[in-house]
Amino acid sequence: MKKFKFISTVLVAAFVFILSACGTSKTTGGNGGGDEKTLKVVTDAAYAPFEYLDKGKVVGFDVDFTNAVAKEAGIKIKIENVGWDPLFVELDKKTADIGMSAITINDERKQTYDFTRPYFLSTNKILVPKGSDIKSGADLKNNKKVAVQNATTGQEAVEGLLGKNNEKIKKFENNNLAIQELKSGGADAVVADNTVIEQYVKNNPNDNFVVIEDSTAFAQEFYGLMLPKGSKLKADLDKAINTLMENGEYTKIYKKWFKVEPDLTKIPKE
Ligand code: ARG
Repeated sequence: MKKFKFISTVLVAAFVFILSACGTSKTTGGNGGGDEKTLKVVTDAAYAPFEYLDKGKVVGFDVDFTNAVAKEAGIKIKIENVGWDPLFVELDKKTADIGMSAITINDERKQTYDFTRPYFLSTNKILVPKGSDIKSGADLKNNKKVAVQNATTGQEAVEGLLGKNNEKIKKFENNNLAIQELKSGGADAVVADNTVIEQYVKNNPNDNFVVIEDSTAFAQEFYGLMLPKGSKLKADLDKAINTLMENGEYTKIYKKWFKVEPDLTKIPKE
């Protein structure tokens, strides 16, 4: 009888333990560190082909890339479309673990966040209607209204040309709204990441837009996955990205979305 009581106590204890383990394994946010936790990845899914909504699902190059990185690192992730500005807030408050959003690694952001190693080369370019007299970054200074996504490197670049508080710079919550403004004639140009506006032009020939390149006005940029400052995830994610770049998996994902081979020599390791 005594023995039975002992065994049942052990069983109950084991059951309670398993239950509580199940409970914590579902926790999301704030705790970078591998194991069986599901990590929360936040994004602004209005930036095709990197992240956008297709029948309510977040898809894109970044999605396939980040899923592959997570798999390689042995991490479970859940992607949530929270929007651009909230993404930064979530990482500030550590209510999310990873920011995935074609995010450019720059010194200003590095003061507040950590980044994985770079995974994509980008530069800002200018989207204008065919026949526009805008042929360079400098031309934007000729009294042009320029639409940008708020708090992006595109905004920063345009501020560099037009001055920080110039009211000709029209800021939008996401890049699709900036493009809408150009379509409706409320702006003369959009400045955003080259791949995004190049794809837009290709997919929307009836809009009659063209892309203007200006490598003197716009610097080279590199995307990284963004992490809360001090995140323990960095080492594992970097290692996983390196592996994917070496074993051909990155190239496979890249070719699926861009139909050409990536030039990995152009992406620095750090
Ligand atoms: N690369 C630019 C930046 O980091 C724009 C990124 C915007 N991404 C997005 N998903 N809306 O500022």
